[in-house]
Amino acid sequence: MEPLVATQLELLNSAENCWQPSDYLPESTGENWLEQVCKLRDQAKAIPDELLVVLVGDMVTEEALPTYQSLLNGFEGVSDRSGSDASAWARWTRGWTAEENRHGDLLNRYLYLSGRVDLRAVEVTIQNLIIKGFDPGTANNPYRGFVYTSFQERATKVSHQNVSKLARAAGDETLQVICNTIASDEARHERAYTKFMGYLFEQDPAGAVLAFRDVLQNQIVMPAQNMGGTGEPDLFERFSAVAQRLGVYTAEHYAQIVTHLVDRWRVESLAGLSGEAAAAQEYVCTLGPRYRRLAERASRRATPAPPQAFSWIFDRAA
Ligand SMILES: [Fe+2]
Ligand SMILES: [Fe+2]
Repeated sequence: MEPLVATQLELLNSAENCWQPSDYLPESTGENWLEQVCKLRDQAKAIPDELLVVLVGDMVTEEALPTYQSLLNGFEGVSDRSGSDASAWARWTRGWTAEENRHGDLLNRYLYLSGRVDLRAVEVTIQNLIIKGFDPGTANNPYRGFVYTSFQERATKVSHQNVSKLARAAGDETLQVICNTIASDEARHERAYTKFMGYLFEQDPAGAVLAFRDVLQNQIVMPAQNMGGTGEPDLFERFSAVAQRLGVYTAEHYAQIVTHLVDRWRVESLAGLSGEAAAAQEYVCTLGPRYRRLAERASRRATPAPPQAFSWIFDRAA
């Protein structure tokens, strides 16, 4: 796959041509720095607590980037052995990581300047998440790995886009632009990972569909599931409940992403599969609609979870 990966390197922008976090934040050496900070803080006052909680959860997820780079380097055949290998895979992984690094930086600085969160509590969560790590169940298998990353880039794109819309509704233009900008990076990354996986579907349809099945059977968990520290074992579940309630990332989105990937990789029209691979093809193709029905049923039945206290916002409930 090296030649294909090499062509996808152009999807990554050079550092000089990339947006940088400072493009969206008050200029700290500017004469009107204080004015700009006051404006940012004024806008941020209108962000409802529950949106703040979702934003913090998204930021924490981005800040655990060392875990994700380790995961990519663990996929067989993809690893960057020296730390500066010249292979296309190694360059891709470093370039991807370097772009992702701006996401956590930007959100972190915005939240710091906003004056709305208990930054120490947030930082403790980030440290806990990186200490605990995360196993997406891909077992060093690059096929599973690229199904997972394709799903995950799209899920984070959806999540940042929806936070952007809610920030706009609350009148915080700065946050609206920030989240939208990050979402457009996620969209570019999604294009690359779905292309890598698309290639595997062309070259080895049976292997690819089996990997797709394996990842979906595991239930695709968000990478921040281990964010809870001592005394907050259910922090991720509480954060997810708020994201679901606000419509930022929901069971319905999960179903939509599965269906989108099935279409994107034309799984339904893969020809010549037999035995286990044919069964996997059928399983994968029925899963999206099935999840959608379950999500609809659950949303009709469920009474929304009551607000819970979050250390991130000084133990206020959201
Ligand atoms: Fe990101
Ligand atoms: Fe991403």
